[in-house]
Amino acid sequence: MRRLISAVALLLAFGAAAEAAEGAKPPAQHWSFSGIFGTFDRASLQRGFQVYKESCAACHAVNMLFYRDLKGIGYQEDDIKAIAAQAKVMDGPNDAGEMFERAGRPSDKFVRPFANENAARAGNNGALPVDLSMVTKARVGGPDYVYGVLTGYVQTPAGVTLMEGMNYNAYFPGHQIAMPPPLQADGVPYQDGTKATVEQQAKDVVTFLAWASEPTLEARKQMGIKVLLFLIVMTGILYAAKRKVWASVH
Ligand code: HEC
Repeated sequence: MRRLISAVALLLAFGAAAEAAEGAKPPAQHWSFSGIFGTFDRASLQRGFQVYKESCAACHAVNMLFYRDLKGIGYQEDDIKAIAAQAKVMDGPNDAGEMFERAGRPSDKFVRPFANENAARAGNNGALPVDLSMVTKARVGGPDYVYGVLTGYVQTPAGVTLMEGMNYNAYFPGHQIAMPPPLQADGVPYQDGTKATVEQQAKDVVTFLAWASEPTLEARKQMGIKVLLFLIVMTGILYAAKRKVWASVH
């Protein structure tokens, strides 16, 4: 019995140590896109795209998106042309065999901030700003984790020494993160009157990144509901048919 107790105590101690090393579990947020009836909030998606563009795109790519995909969050063709045209795209080679820069088009992929991984690391204290296309799916905790990292810059606890160029974060594994706090209150001028608190910007940009990781989420959920309804109706019909067929046997 005593052995059992000490084994359990040891496990708990390891658990606590592991949690300290991994980063605390981020609190669950309410997301409009979770659950079987979940849908994306269009206004939040557009604000989130704005946050990405103004506060994240300098370091992080969203490799899987094309500018034309912005139609999915409610932008019209002309808006998309204008947004794409702000980007500088490397194209070529031209007739003289040289690469050249041109304004972006809706058919271009979102432009990456760095030419390659080494350039990205060199600009970020050796750390890699990951591609954000799949980040809300690729991390344990999903959107809650990303929201946690964005809002988790707290005072460094006493007794913790950070390495040079690192920031303390409550939810990033290991707590030391090379990314400086990317969101500031009122850092992005929202057009629709929403107050741009750090939490609001985090919520919006995570919603946008969740959409980027699965633009067809709404269609998938609607199809799921239709399939369920079909199965329920079909079950009723088959049951009725079975009773009718067997009625004479009993
Ligand atoms: C100045 C450059 C810079 C900006 C701006 C920036 N990041 Fe980062 N970000 C980084 C770097 C570098 C890392 C890697 C940190 C590390 O490994 O210590 C990172 C890490 C992250 C992570 C953690 C990824 C993981 O592996 O778990 C997330 C999530 C993230 N960034 C999201 C964002 C979002 C969303 C924005 C915009 C609101 C943003 N970042 C803005 C540089 C940046």
